[in-house]
Amino acid sequence: MKIVIDEIHDINVMVCKEITKLVNNTPDAVLGLATGSTPLGVYQNLIDDYKENKTDYSGVKTFNLDEYVGLDIDHEQSYHTYMRKNLFDHINIDLNNTFFPSLENPSAYSELIKEHNIDLQILGVGSNGHIGFNEPYTSFDQETSYVTLAESTINDNKRFFNSIDDVPKGAITMGLKDIMSAKRIILIAFGKNKAQAIKQLINGVEDEAWPVTILKRHPYVTVYLDKDAASLLE
Ligand code: GLP
Repeated sequence: MKIVIDEIHDINVMVCKEITKLVNNTPDAVLGLATGSTPLGVYQNLIDDYKENKTDYSGVKTFNLDEYVGLDIDHEQSYHTYMRKNLFDHINIDLNNTFFPSLENPSAYSELIKEHNIDLQILGVGSNGHIGFNEPYTSFDQETSYVTLAESTINDNKRFFNSIDDVPKGAITMGLKDIMSAKRIILIAFGKNKAQAIKQLINGVEDEAWPVTILKRHPYVTVYLDKDAASLLE
């Protein structure tokens, strides 16, 4: 596992460059994408790069990690809306090539991922160590499934909603096994509230109580941290 500790601005630029390099070298690249506040700077850099360099996404396919259950896909806080607003509407990607897990057929999403083989998966991490919406004690063998959100996740995400009661209680998420099938993984974490999860990942052992620790098994992971997220590292 490679660990990079740097300023948020520089990390956003570096991760953007990793993505554009892949897309330029592999026009039919398959990207795994995350939502949340963490990747927003990377997406903004991709949009700026597209304006300047016309990086071509017409052959690119994307697989998003997760989506809330109980929100219409056009809801302003749905991850479909997030991706359109923060990336897809600003680059030349074909929306038919952008995939999200759905409640109707979770296992079909795992099958589709197996078929397409994600070249690069971008990940954030929850303060409780979740990746995607795979909450603590999810089996490391889990494929795409419906999940009940942890109390702490509902609390973390209430900032995006009018009140805590509006935060969905469930989601559909790519499974840990699907995430691990990506050829390469980039995990980004900013802020003190991620420090414990990052300590478990880097100084701890593989432990289903901290889903992020499954990444210790992956042969090609880069972890980008700001100083705060790295503050508990030994
Ligand atoms: C969210 C998403 C995750 C994300 C994480 C951290 O709920 N399901 O994919 O990585 O929690 O979010 P943030 O980047 O806003 O801290």
